[in-house]
Amino acid sequence: MGHTTAHTQASPDAQATEHEQQRFDAIIAADQRIEPRDWMPEQYRSSLIRQISQHAHSEIIGMQPEANWISRAPSLKRKAILIAKVQDEAGHGLYLYSAAQTLGITREEMTQKLIDGKARYSSIFNYHTPTWADIGAIGWLVDGAAICNQVPLCRASYGPYGRAMVRICKEESFHQRQGFEILYELAHGTAEQKQLAQDAVDRWYWPSLMMFGPSDDASPNSARSMAWKIKRFSNDELRQRFVGMCVPQFEALGLECPDKDLRFDEATGTWISGPLDWDEFRAVLDGRGPANTERLEHRRTAHEDGAWVREAAAEYARKQRRGERVAA
Ligand code: 3HC
Repeated sequence: MGHTTAHTQASPDAQATEHEQQRFDAIIAADQRIEPRDWMPEQYRSSLIRQISQHAHSEIIGMQPEANWISRAPSLKRKAILIAKVQDEAGHGLYLYSAAQTLGITREEMTQKLIDGKARYSSIFNYHTPTWADIGAIGWLVDGAAICNQVPLCRASYGPYGRAMVRICKEESFHQRQGFEILYELAHGTAEQKQLAQDAVDRWYWPSLMMFGPSDDASPNSARSMAWKIKRFSNDELRQRFVGMCVPQFEALGLECPDKDLRFDEATGTWISGPLDWDEFRAVLDGRGPANTERLEHRRTAHEDGAWVREAAAEYARKQRRGERVAA
């Protein structure tokens, strides 16, 4: 083999990739969107699959702590609202699985990883909901934190993800308001009801701050995700923004913030939290949270119990494709 041009000229493949990389970089720099048919670096694709599938799983697992209260919600109206909310979460999971599928992974692969315990989902859903007030606290704090984290994702550089987030955020706003309203009613009821609300907020406040992820110095994915304009703000920036939003809302509810070290920093005009219990966060991520085992077990059972529905739907679709008559 001669050594003529091999060392001095890039191969046609490498040239094509370089050109594609430049085009990708230009789209990101111009704040435009990458679409499924566009070339993208492999790491961008895999990081998106990672984040979007985790997000989808969170929506689906997140149905469990709230579904726990559907049959016991205190009135018909409350039941109807809660059913609608839990259905919304299923819909969010579907939008997100669909967005992830455009990156070349199947829904089956993602589901299998989840039920095998090999996929992450948000730490927050590994806590229990012992009282009705917990449903209020989830709506106010958990959905509130989700909105704070997810509104910037509406501008994510990957088109299908950003567009899914727009719909999700609109619906999450209703969820947050219904949670606030449940807590407001309880906080303005009897002393016992007010205590229920306070206890629930005490249970959910710190875990909801952990939803934003590890602190910036312990977040391996942030810098790259921000350079790719998937994430627009760091974990700590969003967490701090959320804390600031909660302060006047605690006052409106007439409830106490469980963070006794919370202070207002005059210099920056922001609220600064006391220390978070990162050992607890790591334990939950490692599968040792209060409800990790039962959440996965429930999801696995639901998947197995639903096998006949998936088979029937697939058969129905096959028959329709072949033009066979399908009984109504
Ligand atoms: N729970 C579980 N895992 C978490 C976590 C949390 N609260 N926070 C971080 N992690 C994981 C990350 O996924 C990552 O693990 P991996 O490398 O194995 O994927 C690791 O901890 C290190 O964290 P990083 O900060 O480096 O990771 P990211 O840059 O991806 O940031 C994130 C984490 C802020 C959660 C980001 O992925 C994100 O914004 N995701 C989209 C939003 C989302 O998933 N929200 C779920 C909330 S629940 C929800 O939306 C349901 C609604 O109904 C309330």
